[in-house]
Amino acid sequence: MSFDLVLFGGTGDLAWRKLMPALFQAFRHGSLPEGGRIIGIARDSLDDDAYRDLIQSRFEAVEGAKRPTREEFRQFAFMLHFLRMDLSKPDDYAALARMLNARRADTVVMYLATAPGLFTQVVQQIAAARLNDERTRLVLEKPLGHDLASNRAINQAVLGVLAEHQVFRIDHYLGKPSVQNLFAMRFGNSLFEPIWRREYISNIQITIGEDLGVEKRGAFYDQTGALRDMVQNHALQLVCAVAMEPPINAHADAIRDEKLKVLRSLKPWTAETLGLNAIRGQYVAGTAYGKRVAGYRDEPGVDPDSRTETFVALRAEIANWRWAGVPFYIRTGKRLSSRDARIEVNFRETPHAIYRAPANAVNKLVINLQPRDGLELHMLAQGQDKRSRNGQRNAGPQLAPVQLDLDFDKRFGSERVGAYERLLLDVIDGRLNLFVRSDEQEEAWRWVEPLIDNWSSDGTPRTYAAGTWGPSASSAMIARDGFAWGEEQ
Ligand code: BG6
Repeated sequence: MSFDLVLFGGTGDLAWRKLMPALFQAFRHGSLPEGGRIIGIARDSLDDDAYRDLIQSRFEAVEGAKRPTREEFRQFAFMLHFLRMDLSKPDDYAALARMLNARRADTVVMYLATAPGLFTQVVQQIAAARLNDERTRLVLEKPLGHDLASNRAINQAVLGVLAEHQVFRIDHYLGKPSVQNLFAMRFGNSLFEPIWRREYISNIQITIGEDLGVEKRGAFYDQTGALRDMVQNHALQLVCAVAMEPPINAHADAIRDEKLKVLRSLKPWTAETLGLNAIRGQYVAGTAYGKRVAGYRDEPGVDPDSRTETFVALRAEIANWRWAGVPFYIRTGKRLSSRDARIEVNFRETPHAIYRAPANAVNKLVINLQPRDGLELHMLAQGQDKRSRNGQRNAGPQLAPVQLDLDFDKRFGSERVGAYERLLLDVIDGRLNLFVRSDEQEEAWRWVEPLIDNWSSDGTPRTYAAGTWGPSASSAMIARDGFAWGEEQ
């Protein structure tokens, strides 16, 4: 099967940080169909050789085993081509059409790694140049819009010229091995499903913590904020993966139908819950990696009076038979204590206690996404006997917290297929399972929109010191229900 992968934004940040390394790994693993072309598109004055040199110089900065050897890069570089385009000029799309039609590959992937403001224009021009036939697959990066209306406008423009099955909306969290493991754990085993419900689970916590600040993306981030950058997409996709019903099969639409139901069942915000269950924060100067780091408002590209949130903590509820009354806590932020992404499923207490259990001991299943990919089962076991003071009498059974630990990186090797590699190969193969359908995406925007409106019209975020777990209001929110965030227990 031959393919052409057209990379709009071919010299941009995403292309060289994520996409080229992923394509190279796929090439190295022998997973890319032979004879494919990767065509970088940008306004720069480059030819094929200059583009190859540019990509090679980027790879030289890569450390360790992920860096290609000279020979590997030479082989990989045969696939790389470049076309200079001004994305507003129809003639330039005609040139692209000539290049693609000269060999008519079986599959043409159009990857829009450009500013989202260009999506509609590029899609319309692709259609005007008659590049929207059955061979075409369109890949859209997040953020897709900045609210429900703009998301709908993009989806309408796209679906005006392509069918839904030709559109691959990326949420790279779905490509992470740990998220696929979550699906495998839930739907490949009978063990957890019977207890995966409100009768046995007291609360679920989803944490996506980053220790980095906004790095070089200050200007973009200041227009975006944590709610749009992480919650509307990554965090809600994790909620779906945890809460969805078992799909009838493993086909894309069966999975996406079930995720959509979860999003539709999220309890809408009310004036009361907006006040109580949604916390936003912004970091001020603090300590990260043992060094003093700047506050958000002092980051390059950020407005010195910015009200953009760099932290969000939410309490959500899913109104259906399986989950009614079970709080789903979500939190994410920049410049937190550590890079740590996990889902904690906390089980209810035993109905009747015959042992003295240590304070705050809970049964919980932790699905670790980052930095390691694994599962932990926390439970209580018989600890060491304790003698009373005079050494004579046994003080009775003492329970101690223990943990079953499964490290998938160790078990399956840390050289597993990375998120972007997985997703790019799926696009080339036409597999939609790990991509987001337009109705899912719109439903997620619908749910977060009252928060966007409320926060844009009202007040400022709370502050938190860089290197901490966010404003104390986040712990207070969860403590109101009698629980605590995982790392605080
Ligand atoms: C991106 C966000 O979607 O996800 C970034 O735009 C964030 O702000 C990144 O840093 C986190 O991804 P990962 O895979 O490093 O957890």
